[in-house]
Amino acid sequence: MPNYHAEFQRSLSDPSAYWLERAKDVHWYKAPTQGIDSSHSPFNTWFADGEINACYNALDIHVENGRGEQAALIHDSPVTDSQSTLSYRELRDQVAQFAGVLQSEGIARGDRVMIYMPMIPQAVIAVLACARIGAIHTVVFGGFAARELAVRINDCSPKVIVSASCGIEPGRVVEYQPLVCEAIQLASSPVGTCIVFQRAQAQWPLQEGRDKDWDTAMQSASPAECVPLKSTDPLYILYTSGTTGSPKGVVKDIGGSVVSLKWTMSSIYNVQPGDVYWAASDIGWVVGHSYIIYAPLFMGCTSVMYEGKPVGTPDAGAFWRVVDEHRVKVLFTAPTAFRAIKRVDPTAELLKNYDLSGLQTLFLAGERCDPDTLQWASSNLGIPVIDHWWQTETGYAICANCQGIEPLPIVPGSPSVPVPGYDVQILDSDGQAVANGEIGSIVVKLPLPPGTFVNLWGADDRYRSAYFERFPGYYETGDAGFIDENGYVFVMARTDDVINVAGHRLSTGAMEEALSNHPDVAECAVMGVRDELKGQLPVGLVILNDGCTKSHEQVSAELIQQVRNDIGPVAAFKLVAVVDKLPKTRSGKILRGTLRSIADSTDWNMPATIEDPAVLDDITQTLRSLGLAKKQS
Ligand code: COA
Ligand code: AMP
Repeated sequence: MPNYHAEFQRSLSDPSAYWLERAKDVHWYKAPTQGIDSSHSPFNTWFADGEINACYNALDIHVENGRGEQAALIHDSPVTDSQSTLSYRELRDQVAQFAGVLQSEGIARGDRVMIYMPMIPQAVIAVLACARIGAIHTVVFGGFAARELAVRINDCSPKVIVSASCGIEPGRVVEYQPLVCEAIQLASSPVGTCIVFQRAQAQWPLQEGRDKDWDTAMQSASPAECVPLKSTDPLYILYTSGTTGSPKGVVKDIGGSVVSLKWTMSSIYNVQPGDVYWAASDIGWVVGHSYIIYAPLFMGCTSVMYEGKPVGTPDAGAFWRVVDEHRVKVLFTAPTAFRAIKRVDPTAELLKNYDLSGLQTLFLAGERCDPDTLQWASSNLGIPVIDHWWQTETGYAICANCQGIEPLPIVPGSPSVPVPGYDVQILDSDGQAVANGEIGSIVVKLPLPPGTFVNLWGADDRYRSAYFERFPGYYETGDAGFIDENGYVFVMARTDDVINVAGHRLSTGAMEEALSNHPDVAECAVMGVRDELKGQLPVGLVILNDGCTKSHEQVSAELIQQVRNDIGPVAAFKLVAVVDKLPKTRSGKILRGTLRSIADSTDWNMPATIEDPAVLDDITQTLRSLGLAKKQS
């Protein structure tokens, strides 16, 4: 096994040579001779003269190399009490067929296709079918509401939406037709066609002229071959939360994604072709894109797609059952899933019913992993539990304990060390490097490695200003933290208004916009407060317009519904209170940091710039009524 430090140094000393070497491990129609082109930094490109197809690398190559009968995708769905498996050959054939369906709808290279689907194999088929013909997929998480869909439709103008009749949450069927129809109505950009997979739990009444039935379309289509594409062509757009209400359309290219993601399977996760890999996430998130769909398939692994929850489907032994039944070698999920299991089954009694001897490693990401959860998981599972840190923008880990390079000591609270390719540094607000152990902004010195985002869709200026302007020459991650004397990185908090709820990245700005849309709201603030299960929860404080005669309870209920309607249930917005005033600086800025500290019962100092200190007493009382601010000051 290579030595981590040597590998890391090689990746930084000559990035082009390092990644061109790794690029030899994937299939190219035309092998690249160029590594990075940073002549228009930060708009860098990788492998610019290469020609490639991501779907070919995910499917066809394995069928041609004798893996056709191996399971490519196992769908395990406790919410429908069903399971199914697609071999590489079957998956390739269905993907080719659906690519033919898309072509018959006039979809070609560069066209956008929106995928709004639950965790079913058809979602993976739709994604890979886009990749096969060079269409750019944009997957939207099923827990987002119609308005969020509409914002994304307007931003990237998809010609086609691929959807299903419903998603299934424990105890309720989520019908997609009303959501998609409302989104199409709200959006100004026209959508020509909806291709709908009908599930038994709900029927989508097809609208003549617009909607097509998946099965019928598949029967009449001719299969499409993989199209050779430029390495720099976009593979997908994935929207993620920024500080404002308008999400950022993170764009990934094809060549960089194929090379980097395949490489992470051996270097970070230490898995080989034929191994079973399970990312318990959702295809609507970057973890789902990278580790339910692309990376395991690039590697020739079997990927598990799980339509269920860690608890309640049917119990807190669900994860153990899946690992046992499918002989999972690597499990990847968010710490919140383990906190949920631990809460229901603190002594891990249910674990005893299953054989987990095949499980080699557990990887956690998506939010800060509290040492307690890490210890609980590692002592009960008896395997390495690896916290790793990454973002939608990067597509794979920035910091990790790379199990396939050199396993390093595990330090609870830290996602370990930078992954080769990432020159991670900590800067103060003046852009100066800080000493070991000192907190600052976590940045990555440019260039970023391949597979990281190449732009924001249609928003060059925002790309530059949101990520590269504050610290010239660096990518600003938006996270704050420190590096210790051994080079371990600690990711402590966001530096912006993004919060992390159950591993889901959400914008408090977007929630404030939703609250402000309510006719009785004059002013509002939303902040993330600590929560034992979900890491953080949003809390809203609102000031009502003069003359509002509704009770506070009624307004609060309406506001909770408003956020659910505008953003979606995934926002988990359930804590809101009416206040007379918000604490502000003399220049009128809401003191969110102070509010958060009071709510979390952490120590805080009276800000010197506060306009009216007495407001904080009232706010503290209000927060107590929501079960927060427990400590007496
Ligand atoms: N479609 C529609 N609604 C959805 C949805 C989807 N795909 N996913 C979640 N929701 C809804 C839930 O039903 C819930 O609605 P409710 O308010 O009516 O109860 C709401 O959104 C919040 O969902 P969630 O955050 O999942 O909370 P939960 O209480 O249902 O479950 C956990 C709690 C911890 C079990 C769950 O958050 C979990 O499994 N987390 C792991 C997260 C993860 O894998 N993140 C990926 C990043 S790596
Ligand atoms: P997303 O883009 O949805 O993947 O969210 C990325 C954000 O989640 C990061 O910027 C961090 O704030 C947080 N995050 C992800 N993984 C970790 C981790 N291992 N430790 C701390 N924070 C994390």
